[in-house]
Amino acid sequence: MPLLCELVGPNGRVTAMDLAPENIARVDSLAAAKPTMPLTTKVGSLVDLPFPDNTFDGLWTANVVQYLTEPELDRAFAEFYRVLKPGGKLAVKEFDSTLFGLFPLDHAFHARFQAAREALYVTRGIFGVFNSQTIPGRIRAAGLTAVQGKSWLIERRAPLSPPSRAFWNGALKYWASDAFELVWADEDRMRLRALAADVDRVIENPDFCVREGFIVAVGTKPTTG
Ligand SMILES: C[S@@+](CC[C@H](N)C(=O)[O-])C[C@H]1O[C@@H](n2cnc3c(N)ncnc32)[C@H](O)[C@@H]1O
Repeated sequence: MPLLCELVGPNGRVTAMDLAPENIARVDSLAAAKPTMPLTTKVGSLVDLPFPDNTFDGLWTANVVQYLTEPELDRAFAEFYRVLKPGGKLAVKEFDSTLFGLFPLDHAFHARFQAAREALYVTRGIFGVFNSQTIPGRIRAAGLTAVQGKSWLIERRAPLSPPSRAFWNGALKYWASDAFELVWADEDRMRLRALAADVDRVIENPDFCVREGFIVAVGTKPTTG
């Protein structure tokens, strides 16, 4: 938020929105320390944006569309179009699990884990993080033009910095907590549980490397038509 507030300049205004009131409360408490930030906060959903038509010059959403179902996605992209001013720009950022890598975990085990996680998203009926490369097409289908997508990787290798270490410790345990919901071989499930029980050793491996991929896709609301 501080970066976006800086980008819009002294005459601009940023509105931050999230579905969870506790997340907005957290933003409010952090923003209280910087009262000059041109920031307004709002609780609301991407599928029913609490703003009038043609309100914003730009709309940025990060790591949220993964939670939506197919009908919700259609509504969200229609809402993005509706609240943008003509000529306004949309940018959607998302994690792309098809680019994910975790080493030195053996590739075959990792591939089975990824396939089982993807199947779990399908069961839950959400867009997930395996379909992120379809986002540019969805932006185009919503009526925006000049659509572009770009992917990038972030790679973290041992030795991890303390914040990365804390993050990956939590993330690997979180993924392993899906183990019982995943439909896959018992042997793989046990292997994942063993890994979760010994995350520190995995992270301390001198060859530890985690590779995350992301996409950002942008489009512009036409000025006519
Ligand atoms: C992975 S976090 C991303 C948070 C933040 N955008 C970022 O990139 O750091 C996912 C966020 O999506 C929010 N969320 C989930 N469904 C939503 C919806 N339908 N509308 C708005 N926010 C939603 C959650 O409350 C959560 O804060």
